[in-house]
Amino acid sequence: MSQSVTTQTEQGLYVNPEALTAHLPALDYRDGALYMEQVSIDEVVKHYGTPCYVYSKQAILDVYQSYTASFASLTHQICYAVKANSNLAVLGILAQAGAGFDIVSRGELMRVLAAGGEVSRVVFSGVGKTYSDIEYALTQGIGCFNVESISELTLINDVAKSLDKPAPISLRVNPNVDAKTHPYISTGLKDNKFGISHENAVAVYEQAAQLSHINIVGIDCHIGSQLTEVAPFVAALDKVIELIHSLRDKGIALRHIDLGGGLGVRYIDETPVSIDEFAQALLPKLSELGLTVFFEPGRSIVANAGVLLTKVDVLKPTEHKNFAIVDAAMNDLIRPALYQAEMAVIPSVLPSKDIDTDGTQSWDIVGAICETGDFLAKDRLLSLATGDILAITGAGAYGFTMSSNYNSRGRASEVMVADDRHQLIRKRETLEALYADEMLWQDK
Ligand code: LLP
Repeated sequence: MSQSVTTQTEQGLYVNPEALTAHLPALDYRDGALYMEQVSIDEVVKHYGTPCYVYSKQAILDVYQSYTASFASLTHQICYAVKANSNLAVLGILAQAGAGFDIVSRGELMRVLAAGGEVSRVVFSGVGKTYSDIEYALTQGIGCFNVESISELTLINDVAKSLDKPAPISLRVNPNVDAKTHPYISTGLKDNKFGISHENAVAVYEQAAQLSHINIVGIDCHIGSQLTEVAPFVAALDKVIELIHSLRDKGIALRHIDLGGGLGVRYIDETPVSIDEFAQALLPKLSELGLTVFFEPGRSIVANAGVLLTKVDVLKPTEHKNFAIVDAAMNDLIRPALYQAEMAVIPSVLPSKDIDTDGTQSWDIVGAICETGDFLAKDRLLSLATGDILAITGAGAYGFTMSSNYNSRGRASEVMVADDRHQLIRKRETLEALYADEMLWQDK
């Protein structure tokens, strides 16, 4: 399963498209043409143009169901992390499957409700909840606030008092565990802004227990994203279990433990622990606790259910480098620029020639934005012609949700595929919409 799909040469990295798609359940090549489920990618492009995000309904559901199957022996709740992909269609599919949600803003909660999500299965994470965020969430009947500081705790108590409605809370504990991932997406270290330190947690719980409108229901931790090993999860769990025992000794009983999200995915050659292996490592410790277990997976549910489709507009070979300028850019997909993320780029139609033939050269796949940081992939061996359609795989998570309008570019369209059907789930943003809310300065 973990076989390499790449060949590194002096010129660049070759990602074998067929070997790659063998690891991506939603995608395969048929007679050299790329398909998602039963829909040809070229047909999607014909209907919706590029750049365009395309997601497989089945791939989303399959991962969700492997979480529920792997933890079937425990009472559990999968709270999909909305920030990974917040399109209403994605949320609606997961809501129908019974998922709960992990949100970090009022906007995300509104999306969940609009998509038919059940508010009592929503947990509210994040370090900067405001009075009005808390008021809205509590009025709607939020399942739990994951509290990150003492000042947030007192603010929640104040809001709850004014609404005369006790607020269900858990404390997000920072276990000081190294998640061994990119520093920007590591959250469980002392130096990170997240959570309440392991050392102070019991004291803060005791403080919470004194507050009139706080209802302690759980404990929570999230140590980072794109974790490929199970050891940091186990280390964090051990620390949280220690706290649960100390709290029990002090008469503070909890209903749930929330282990956050963070399970990594295979983008190209990574070998992340599988959901089942993850479950096997945690289950023995979790079963002893007798608590409901929450998880907040985002990336692992949607990343490999999605691709970003883009067209090659200009080929620009230079003395030092060859640039393929495509119609997607860092505003559509910022992960390569922001985290040095390596994502695979594969053609919608396989070239008839192979890697060591004349047609294949090393290309930087870049956008048209006026920044050197505007790249989607570097030094990739591909055989390209203008007009070709490329698919960037693994783009279902933190792709569209992190996109922007930089350089006054409209955001891409989004399409869902299920079996042999395709459907637009978000229109391409019009350029007029980009300035529709702006006003000219009036001199008088
Ligand atoms: N729960 C909390 C409290 C989180 O902060 C996150 C992600 C998750 C759950 C979901 O984690 P996941 O299962 O998706 O790893 N933009 C970055 C990833 C940022 C993750 C932020 N927090 C990227 O593109 O790699």
